[in-house]
Amino acid sequence: MSLNFIPPPTQKIDSDIARLAGVELYVLRLDLMHPWVNGNKWYKLKYNLAQAKEQGYKKLLTFGGAYSNHIYATAAAGKLLGFPTIGVIRGEETLPLNSTLSFAAQQGMQLVYLERATYRQKHSFEVQADLRKRFGEVFIIPEGGSNLQGVRGCLEIVSAAMQVFDTVCVACGTATTLAGIAMSLNPKQRVLGFPVLKGGFLAKDIENLIQNYLATGLPTPYGSPAPWELICDYHFGGYAKVKDDLLLFSQQFTQAYNIPLDYVYTAKMFYGVMDLLKQGYFSKGDRLLLIHTGGLQVLKQKAHQ
Ligand SMILES: Cc1ncc(COP(=O)(O)O)c(C=O)c1O
Repeated sequence: MSLNFIPPPTQKIDSDIARLAGVELYVLRLDLMHPWVNGNKWYKLKYNLAQAKEQGYKKLLTFGGAYSNHIYATAAAGKLLGFPTIGVIRGEETLPLNSTLSFAAQQGMQLVYLERATYRQKHSFEVQADLRKRFGEVFIIPEGGSNLQGVRGCLEIVSAAMQVFDTVCVACGTATTLAGIAMSLNPKQRVLGFPVLKGGFLAKDIENLIQNYLATGLPTPYGSPAPWELICDYHFGGYAKVKDDLLLFSQQFTQAYNIPLDYVYTAKMFYGVMDLLKQGYFSKGDRLLLIHTGGLQVLKQKAHQ
């Protein structure tokens, strides 16, 4: 099952900061793969959709906030691959719909709203049984595509041809993407995760994702994860919180390298990497691969506000 993807290009960043640090910097542009289904989203959806098809499901149901990149991508992928979709949105309906939800609705996604307390229980048996009663036989994908099938897809982000990189850097929400990347790298490589939420609770989640994935016997090239680490100093106050210097950095970076960054995820990771380069955090001669995980529809959102 595939869409018409452009193979994601790897772009070199010619930066004085990297040169001074003796480090080579590249960006894997997952944002360019497809106009609507791009970034890490497709990787997290791919095996979920394959499983839905294999098991004979005709409809998909998933969850997200009103600005969710995952809702946006699932609506588009469903339309392109012939799955009707239902998007269960956190909170109350706000009209007019923002650009994420109006895009999803245009793709034919049926939008339904769950008040916040019930939404928090969305992955419970009771809430899901209720949704099945309401919508019939639906294949349920968790919020963000964050399950073991999601991890499985993320093993395909960094290909075997990218073994020349010593360190891979990625922004983390649930860290499903990081878990998949860690299991795809060879043991001499490593992955650094930059959480965009405050709290420092992710390490345990990553351990669980990795252990649970390994327990399924699903394929991994090396049988164990490469070293991974979380850099927790660049969340800028928490999810979707921004500060002026993050916005300024993001604008300047886009201008200098023609790479748009979303301020919820990728801008925080790119900021963090550039800051660490200035501090001499990386070893001379290191080759870094920064994963651009997409999320650029949030910029349209801003433009519409
Ligand atoms: C643009 C973007 N980057 C990074 C992430 C973080 O992914 P994960 O939840 O797998 O850590 C997300 C969330 O899915 C995202 O939308």
